[in-house]
Amino acid sequence: MRTVMIGEDRVPAVGQGTWQLGTDRRRRHQEVEALRYGIEQGLTVIDTAEMYANGGAEEVVADAIDGIDQPVFLVSKVWPTNQAPERLRRSLEATLKRLRRPQIDLYLLHWPSRSVNLRDALTGLTQAFRDGLTRYVGVSNFPTAALQEAQALMPPDVPLVVDQVEYHLLNRRAETQLIPYANRHGVTLMAYSPLKFLAHLDPQDPRYQVLQQLADKRQVEPATVALAYLLGAGPVIAIPKAISKAHIDANSQALALELSADERRALQAQFPVPNEDLPFQAL
Ligand SMILES: NC(=O)c1ccc[n+]([C@@H]2O[C@H](COP(=O)([O-])OP(=O)(O)OC[C@H]3O[C@@H](n4cnc5c(N)ncnc54)[C@H](OP(=O)(O)O)[C@@H]3O)[C@@H](O)[C@H]2O)c1
Repeated sequence: MRTVMIGEDRVPAVGQGTWQLGTDRRRRHQEVEALRYGIEQGLTVIDTAEMYANGGAEEVVADAIDGIDQPVFLVSKVWPTNQAPERLRRSLEATLKRLRRPQIDLYLLHWPSRSVNLRDALTGLTQAFRDGLTRYVGVSNFPTAALQEAQALMPPDVPLVVDQVEYHLLNRRAETQLIPYANRHGVTLMAYSPLKFLAHLDPQDPRYQVLQQLADKRQVEPATVALAYLLGAGPVIAIPKAISKAHIDANSQALALELSADERRALQAQFPVPNEDLPFQAL
């Protein structure tokens, strides 16, 4: 199984996203079952956030992990307006209450904040780590320079272990600077929205056709190839969100698929990488 290090933990390199879960109670059972099925297939890293359905996604996660045997690795995030130390603390305590856990595995700044000074946000994150509320800390939507700036503000014994950013075949900007930088500095890249682009590609599009050909050759789905590509780019974990069992099966198969250099080149030729880093955006 393909794995990746987050801090000192070795975890499967495909996890599960939860954006848009928890918005409608009538779908709760289906969402809980989907996450449980994903965990059974080895997708034990679960990404959520206080912002998703106003905490509703965290409640779905709590129901999904209630009483299960497998250990899971839980990730949540604090919204930019809640990143001042006292508010961050309250946000994290509310997250833990919804998750019904005394501690989370990884807590991230969801986006750079326009209203809260970065140093203050990182002080709050450090305090949460020191108080044992989270095992690891990190950031999300931080391009390379912003990540570097944040790292410089952290105490040496509280490293930022993850940067969670948009990364998929149609947006390979993370490869330009961030992944090589992350690789050198022990930061794992968490790829969000890794598969959303598939719904926007016409099956007749030559880019889709290359994906399909590679998938046919390997007897897997195009999504499996698209995820396997990301995992081969460096210390990367992808966190697709999937409700359908067929999707979850396809996603978990990426844990067993290693693309050859030729296969990677064929994809790179169709999905070129722009020569620019991810944009900086503060919310
Ligand atoms: N840090 C951030 O700012 C940020 C931003 C965006 C997302 N995220 C995180 O990243 C997670 C994933 O991103 P996302 O939800 O935006 O997009 P995504 O996972 O790339 O795409 C989700 C869509 O793809 C479909 N899908 C899943 N597996 C598939 C497969 N094997 N084949 C074809 N379609 C498949 C899903 O369908 P079904 O659900 O019907 O199966 C759903 O419609 C989020 O849920 C969230 O946890 C973080």
